Amino acid sequence: MRVFRFLRILSTIGRHGLDEFIVGRGSSVLRLGFRAAYFWADRSAPRGVRLRLALQELGPVFVKFGQLMSIRPDLIPTDITEELSKLQDSVPPFPAEQVVATLDRSYGKPYLEVFHAFDLTPVASASVAQVHFAELPDGREVAVKILRPGIGETIEQDTALLYGVAGLIERLHPLSDLLRAREVVYEFDKIIHDELDLLREASSMSTVRRNFAGSPILYVPDVHFDWCTRDVMVMERIDGIPVNDIEQIRAHGIDTATLGRNGVEIFFTQVFRDGFFHADMHPGNIFVARDGRYCGIDYGIMGSLPEVDKDCLAMIFIAFFKRDYKAVAVAHIEAGWVPADTRVEEFEGAIRAVCEPIFDKPLKDIYFGKLLLRLFEVGRRFRMDIQPQLVLLQKTLLQVEGLGRHLDPNLDLRTSAQPILERWMNDQVGPRGLWKRLRHEAPMWSKTIPQIPRLVHKILSDDAPGRIERALQGLEAAQRRQTNILLAIAIILGAMVIGLVLTSL
Ligand SMILES: Nc1ncnc2c1ncn2[C@@H]1O[C@H](COP(=O)(O)OP(=O)(O)O)[C@@H](O)[C@H]1O
Ligand SMILES: [Mg+2]
Repeated sequence: MRVFRFLRILSTIGRHGLDEFIVGRGSSVLRLGFRAAYFWADRSAPRGVRLRLALQELGPVFVKFGQLMSIRPDLIPTDITEELSKLQDSVPPFPAEQVVATLDRSYGKPYLEVFHAFDLTPVASASVAQVHFAELPDGREVAVKILRPGIGETIEQDTALLYGVAGLIERLHPLSDLLRAREVVYEFDKIIHDELDLLREASSMSTVRRNFAGSPILYVPDVHFDWCTRDVMVMERIDGIPVNDIEQIRAHGIDTATLGRNGVEIFFTQVFRDGFFHADMHPGNIFVARDGRYCGIDYGIMGSLPEVDKDCLAMIFIAFFKRDYKAVAVAHIEAGWVPADTRVEEFEGAIRAVCEPIFDKPLKDIYFGKLLLRLFEVGRRFRMDIQPQLVLLQKTLLQVEGLGRHLDPNLDLRTSAQPILERWMNDQVGPRGLWKRLRHEAPMWSKTIPQIPRLVHKILSDDAPGRIERALQGLEAAQRRQTNILLAIAIILGAMVIGLVLTSL
């Protein structure tokens, strides 16, 4: 079976004249072979178009792969990503019997014993899941997301085939080192597997709901965990205006410029305050409630950033806002994003060369997502190892900016983002940051502090001075100085800790 499908893929590659993706553009024997076997293939369309058509032909998993690749301009040339971003998963909905079968199997009883009412006509249908509206026994209206039956196996088989194709590319393509084909498939594999578990999506949704509880600008639907399984997710049904529908938004008296700013604020808050962000902010996943709050759905793809990357990113943004390229370069080095021996001036110069032309435009035409992308491109020349999470963030930022400008063509990212970043930086590095971190450590103190008298007693006990003296005699003067400094720091820190404990009691 798999062999046949693999052959089918090879034939699709041949028919669409995609040999250059597998064996490169040289005039190798292999390429000539491919060309001879598919001499009749029409190669007149640009390579991106041919690739898009081939992926569409191969089915939903390949379409999804193309869609995810379309947001990887760090890996794929832009003429191709532009074509890939046109891919639509236009899959027909799966039939009502399969909906019923999935529900009955998930709950272990007839679905109408679980739901008071269930509309078997889907509201939306995509390659991985489809959504239905229903009503719980207590009358609450819900949206029910159901995984496409058998999608797990299809994905399993198709990703295995993708690995096969990637293997071929690695073996045959002259630039295989640069293409990292298998790694690309591996990343896809991870993302699509996460999407196969709706409990995971439900948990992400409920985390963001908690993070934004009481927020005046974002509403996240409630997750009804009691009804959720891996294949079925039940959540509060929202009744919002699609964010693309500007006329309706205005008709409800909602100010679109404010909405644009709020979108930026939500994104930056998720990234910097929570380190956990919605990474699929296309308009289909965003609605606007009648009270002007955003409603975000579809938490299938999430990004997360560790503290050190957050620090670096915040510094980079703030430096960018001030056009301080040296600070941008230094932040990269300090965070370990580029090797420590990178020459700051050289790196700074390279960053300036790509960013300055962009900054020459009016602020409303500057896309910081693009700026980040350029920065990654420069970084790569300086041996920067770009984490997939950063790429996810960069691409989401572009989406957010696109959406923001759609709502308000004059949106200025700086005025919306800078206060959030500066507040966050102050929280991190100022006295408040110190206080926050000390408080974070507080549970440890309750264990350590009672030991202090015993430790002091031990140090001051009979033999201790002699031991210290003997040890000191063996030390070089320089080392002694160092010890003194360390000792002084330890004493100051100890005093601070004790002082803080006493004030917080
Ligand atoms: N909680 C909800 N309330 C109302 N409509 C919803 C809800 N969740 C999903 N939908 C509808 O279903 C569509 C697809 O849902 P989504 O979670 O984005 O699935 P997919 O992962 O297939 O994109 C949405 O665009 C929206 O129209
Ligand atoms: Mg969606």
